[in-house]
Amino acid sequence: MAFRIAHISDTHLSSAKPYFVASFLKVANQISGCGADLVLNSGDMSLDGSAQENDLIEARRLHALLGLPVRFIPGNHDVGESQDAPGSRGLPVFSAAQRRCYLRHFGADYWCLHVPGWRIVGINDFLLGSDLAAADEQIRFVHEVASTAGEAALALFTHRPLFHLSADEQEVSGRFLNPRPRAMLLAALAAGKPALIGSGHLHQFLSHDRGGSHHIWAPSTAFVLTDARQPRYGLKQTGYVEHVLKPDGSHFSRLVTVPGLGSPSIADFPAAYAQYAAPAGPLRRDTATEVVPS
Ligand SMILES: [Fe+2]
Ligand SMILES: [Fe+2]
Repeated sequence: MAFRIAHISDTHLSSAKPYFVASFLKVANQISGCGADLVLNSGDMSLDGSAQENDLIEARRLHALLGLPVRFIPGNHDVGESQDAPGSRGLPVFSAAQRRCYLRHFGADYWCLHVPGWRIVGINDFLLGSDLAAADEQIRFVHEVASTAGEAALALFTHRPLFHLSADEQEVSGRFLNPRPRAMLLAALAAGKPALIGSGHLHQFLSHDRGGSHHIWAPSTAFVLTDARQPRYGLKQTGYVEHVLKPDGSHFSRLVTVPGLGSPSIADFPAAYAQYAAPAGPLRRDTATEVVPS
């Protein structure tokens, strides 16, 4: 039997600012109707959970409505911005306290599921390159999973994509894993290259093969970013991704659109991130990123 994952991402849920709850419920309703063996949210479950714990609570509550097995990994809006790209987006910086708060509401931030023919691994990519003791523990965990997978294929899930086109990219930003933590992760995976690498964060859908892995960027269920704010790497629309993992180690992944969901722009919700909203302008060359939520 194939194992079906409904891969959602960037739901940006909040009780105080419930702009994207209706979209989430439409997606949840469709997934519940179609069924799935697992619903996996690849981060930014909450609108502003790194500053407002209530947003984490509300996001967790809403996911319980799915009535299906659910797993999570954290996004920058849940645990704060990566320590190796600080100050780029006005979010708190990832810390031990941020992590503890996340763990209270969503459980383990790195984990592995065994299903026929596959090991499904979710990681907290904000631990990579951080000064937390758990950073080394997570790397050892990834190495252990990769080196003991045997004939099983690996599916890895992170919040940020590993890179745009190549692991050799040198950009340091909040968009992708930065070069040093990416190298650490790839070294830990040397014994077992993932067949599938799923991510979120950019609110764009992209499917391409790079470095022997199939990289899939899941879109947001909530909103897209304007071209003035963010380059168009893939498809700017809302929805989710279905991954079908077959026991023989093969898989297929597809973008699923949801009737009535639309693809609103964050520009249409100026109060959502008013605390660090800034007019569109040239990239900040110190970080080569922009002041935008994603
Ligand atoms: Fe994000
Ligand atoms: Fe996001």
